[in-house]
Amino acid sequence: MTKLTAAITAVGGYVPKFIMTNKMLESMVDTNDEWITSRTGIKERRVLKDEEGKGTSYMAIKAAQDLIDKRGIDPGEIDLIIVATATPDSLVASTAAFVASEIGATNAFGYDLLAACSSFLFGMSTASSFVQSGIYKKVLLIGADKMSSIIDYTDRTTCIIFGDGAGAVLFEPNMEGLGLQDQYLRADGNGRKYLGMDAGGSLMPATEETVKNRKHFIYQDGKSVFKFAVSNMADVAAKIMERNQLTGDEVSWLVPHQANKRIIDATANRMDLDHSKVMMNIHRYGNTTSATLPLLLHDYEEQLKKGDNLVFAAFGGGFTWGSIYLKWAYNK
Ligand code: UT7
Repeated sequence: MTKLTAAITAVGGYVPKFIMTNKMLESMVDTNDEWITSRTGIKERRVLKDEEGKGTSYMAIKAAQDLIDKRGIDPGEIDLIIVATATPDSLVASTAAFVASEIGATNAFGYDLLAACSSFLFGMSTASSFVQSGIYKKVLLIGADKMSSIIDYTDRTTCIIFGDGAGAVLFEPNMEGLGLQDQYLRADGNGRKYLGMDAGGSLMPATEETVKNRKHFIYQDGKSVFKFAVSNMADVAAKIMERNQLTGDEVSWLVPHQANKRIIDATANRMDLDHSKVMMNIHRYGNTTSATLPLLLHDYEEQLKKGDNLVFAAFGGGFTWGSIYLKWAYNK
């Protein structure tokens, strides 16, 4: 009997129009283009700024609509929508439920998945499991973040890194053995002191004090996070290759979370991978948290071929991290 697998069958993406360059940041905080470029690889990032009053759902809807148009499906066919995000429109009410209604996915249920920069990677595991088990046939996974909503633009250690954006993929059943092959996902709650946002949750509800003390913005101990990210992202990518007996030559593409070009380079080196096989768009978008992986697929879709071996890797707040091995299922 042929095994049922879950494959990505379509990709969509959206980034806001407003481009915030390194030069612009020079007039906001004590930084410079040379430092940002050499330390991170980032040249510019997008900010959802002109689209006043819009949240993460606005970008998620745009990315979903792009995917639906390209795949040519009726939104009514979608069974489930997962929005991977660290910046939902609001707490409590699901962003995914709103996205479903707005795109006309009237037969879908939906929920948000929150695991910082690993949200989309963990979402791939969740979405594919529903398809592989035979329960659902069309699962739309969206990675979307309006990081500018939690960024302190007076803090040079964080404001230079993050950007806004959204990407979407559709998981469907496959009978050719393509799609998700293996996954190695990890979490360590001891890491939450190094990267997070203190207030706004149940631990520290909003008060005048928390606002005054700028506790509703993201903080990170960059150096510590960098150290954990370099070793852990490389470890899991190497592990998934070893477990699947993949050599650097057999990996077609590394699809790495875009947090810092130096972390990506270290991961590629550990995998013994030619750097021409490393997907990269950090120079254009910065770190879009849950949107980095699907935006890479969106940017590189034309170059992907059926049967290509893709290794995804991510590291994020929590800490959360992991790697996924996936066989690409279609030619553009
Ligand atoms: O996606 C979630 C996971 N996040 C990550 O993976 C991020 C991981 N961390 C990083 O990417 C890097 O640590 C940063 C890009 C955040 C910082 O780079 P770094 O090479 O670790 O710099 P640093 O924090 O060690 O700072 C080096 C120097 C310091 O000055 P002194 O003490 O040596 O005089 C900083 O004050 O650079 C200074 N600095 C800056 N200078 C200009 C820090 N931020 C800036 C800035 N512009 N924006």
